[in-house]
Amino acid sequence: MTHPHSTLITGIGELVTNEDGWTALTGAALVIEDQTVAWTGPAGSAPAADRVVDAAGRAVLPGFVDSHAHLVFAGERSAEFAARMAGTPYQAGGIRSTVAATRGAPDEVLRANLARLTREMLAQGTTTLECKSGYGLTVADEARAVALAAEVTPEVTFLGAHVVPPEYEDDRAGYLDLVCGPMLTACAPHARWVDVFCEQGAFDADEARAVLAAGHAAGLLPRVHANQLGPGPGVQVAVAAGAAAADHCTYLSDADVDALAASGTGFSGTVATLLPGVEFSTRQPYPDARRLLAAGVTVALATDCNPGSCFTSSMPLCVALAVREMRLTTQEAVWAATAGGARALRRTDVGHLGVGARADLILLDGPSHTYLAYRPGVPLVRAVWRSGHREL
Ligand code: NIG
Ligand code: FE
Repeated sequence: MTHPHSTLITGIGELVTNEDGWTALTGAALVIEDQTVAWTGPAGSAPAADRVVDAAGRAVLPGFVDSHAHLVFAGERSAEFAARMAGTPYQAGGIRSTVAATRGAPDEVLRANLARLTREMLAQGTTTLECKSGYGLTVADEARAVALAAEVTPEVTFLGAHVVPPEYEDDRAGYLDLVCGPMLTACAPHARWVDVFCEQGAFDADEARAVLAAGHAAGLLPRVHANQLGPGPGVQVAVAAGAAAADHCTYLSDADVDALAASGTGFSGTVATLLPGVEFSTRQPYPDARRLLAAGVTVALATDCNPGSCFTSSMPLCVALAVREMRLTTQEAVWAATAGGARALRRTDVGHLGVGARADLILLDGPSHTYLAYRPGVPLVRAVWRSGHREL
């Protein structure tokens, strides 16, 4: 049968579908019909379509789901990075210099920066991305950030609770009231998620719980920056709030791992989102991913693309780092960067290539997913389809 708007991709060396955990077919084909995956199977029994693409033995994977990024900002902090590499430790306070630059930037500058970063992401195979506010920290600047983010993705996160801005240094309670009151009211219409940086130097457990509760009351779903710079209550706060994800998880106690495992692996559980680019760029120890997997925790990988702790937009780099430095298998890392990210965003339509999935897929310049880690730093993403539309 011939479909009106169908594309057959055939000659696929390895087709990663993630239909049931890690699933991959060799010698495969896939049919896109309009915006969705209509058929997958052995190349020899593929149905006809009105367009044919020969993958010539290359691998096809679901597009990456980058579930953690901070893309609405102005300025850069390369000097801070260079100082870090020379021995200065990473501190949450660096965020404030980006806040000053962002507040001073016109909308067009922020929009152009956002467009450049999302283009970079797409070129590296990211077809779904989450984007946070958090560099405005006034009602108007946070509202502007979530509105700009909503222009590029439905996965927008309100992060007014990133740090306490300098003008509230002596009035934390006043800033909390602002975040949970007028700032939330102004931001909620543009956001799906609420996030809080629960960390020494940012917000403590009680403050984090208050932010998540206020966000929940405004219809937002919780996610948390947790246990990034040291051990702390972030993961427990995230699990107790029913957060979709606890992100970073660099310093975990046994009780934290148990809590994540007990939250379950279904779509109501809390995913541990690991951000290996941050450990790379801050020279912190990599989290023990094997301990999480051994406990049965669902693991996702994301970039955390931001000007301070990690300025990469590359999911292939994160996969390579996760394999080399966190000892994920190549299959586990690719699953975490696709299906895992979808779990972290509670999305069933992306992160896999089962029939009915959104046709978000990448054609790799290599015969298998392993090439993402085997050829680190090499631009291997040769073509990208998003919602069935060929983007490059
Ligand atoms: O995810 N942890 C808090 N926020 C960012 C860092 C932001 C910055 O340094 O500008 C992060 O690492
Ligand atoms: Fe972050």
